[in-house]
Amino acid sequence: MQGPMSRFVHTGFERDPATGALAPAVYRAVSFHHKDPEKPLRWDYSRSGNPTRDALEGAIATLEGGLRGFAFASGNQAITAAFLLFAAGDHLIATADCQGGTQRLVRAVLSRFGLSVSYVDTDDLAAVQRARRPETKAVLVENFSNPFLRVSDIPALATWAHQEGLRLIVDNTFLTPYLQAPLALGADLVLHSATKMIAGHGDVTAGLAATADEELGRALYTVQNATGGMLSPDDSYQVLRGLHTLPLRMERAQDTAGSFAAFLSRQPEVVEIHYPGLGGDPGHETAARTVRGFGNMITVRLGDARLVAPMARHLEMIRVGAGFGGPETSISLPELHCHAALTAGERQERRLTGDILRFSVGLEDLADIEADLRRALDRATGEIQ
Ligand SMILES: Cc1ncc(COP(=O)(O)O)c(C=O)c1O
Repeated sequence: MQGPMSRFVHTGFERDPATGALAPAVYRAVSFHHKDPEKPLRWDYSRSGNPTRDALEGAIATLEGGLRGFAFASGNQAITAAFLLFAAGDHLIATADCQGGTQRLVRAVLSRFGLSVSYVDTDDLAAVQRARRPETKAVLVENFSNPFLRVSDIPALATWAHQEGLRLIVDNTFLTPYLQAPLALGADLVLHSATKMIAGHGDVTAGLAATADEELGRALYTVQNATGGMLSPDDSYQVLRGLHTLPLRMERAQDTAGSFAAFLSRQPEVVEIHYPGLGGDPGHETAARTVRGFGNMITVRLGDARLVAPMARHLEMIRVGAGFGGPETSISLPELHCHAALTAGERQERRLTGDILRFSVGLEDLADIEADLRRALDRATGEIQ
């Protein structure tokens, strides 16, 4: 089975050997009967292992080309587990343009335990190299970055990191296991917020991780089992269901996103557009070399921040709020939603001002998305004049 669509449909669960059921059972049991205490049990306690979660963890391991997969209660829990592989005094280098939740986690929690992180533009290899310290242990790359969709060169980063004895960890949320294969490109560990495109329907909060490195796999399992941040059986089922249709949804959404990005770049209100699928985007060449497609996320800056609030009120179909990767097209406003965790000063430094719109292109018809936005912008313009 070589084709990606077939792999996503068939990976993770084929049929229940006992019943022939073609979808996995949801095993909510906490404990498993230990009939013969002299023999080990495959599953004994659900925090340590659960058949429904195993189906999902096996699926993400296979789809990412790894040996072990892990399902967590959220994307941030997966990131937390990755950080917990390190020790007090260790230093990591992370993508500066990253989701606010990673920065909040480091600032509010991990820094109290002696971990330190330097944020740099990981699409600039020389900047990453300059940030290396004797105590640096890993590079955590968000690719594409959030919200400016900067494109890091994963193969180049992996080569350098391994020369230096560092781990390369990739948060693959924006691209999904369908559009980018970080482990095949040289990364040691891949992370996802499965809350987004993977689960795909805006009704599950989940995180995933996969690695091809046995030692790292054992260490991550210890963290997952010891801290207990694993995904529930019901949510594991939902995420596995989402994985089966991920390629189809991504193909559709990114096809629309490509056309919508061209439309956005023609609108007079848009003064800056970030979408690696556009020929003029600074990350286009690296992306074309390293990913299967450019995804469904687009970020724009409007010339006038006063348009944003009335535009949001006039949208009829496009949703406004936190989150992305659902079936509906949505817009996040970094100040209020995706980067609310940053301080005002941090947002200012990253140019995350009130004139930024981050689009998650969904599954609707392109013409409806364009018409809704255009109408809302026209009405907003009328209101502020
Ligand atoms: C790139 C990225 N990674 C991780 C997360 C955290 O995921 P979750 O909300 O599932 O904890 C997010 C959330 O938006 C994200 O955008």
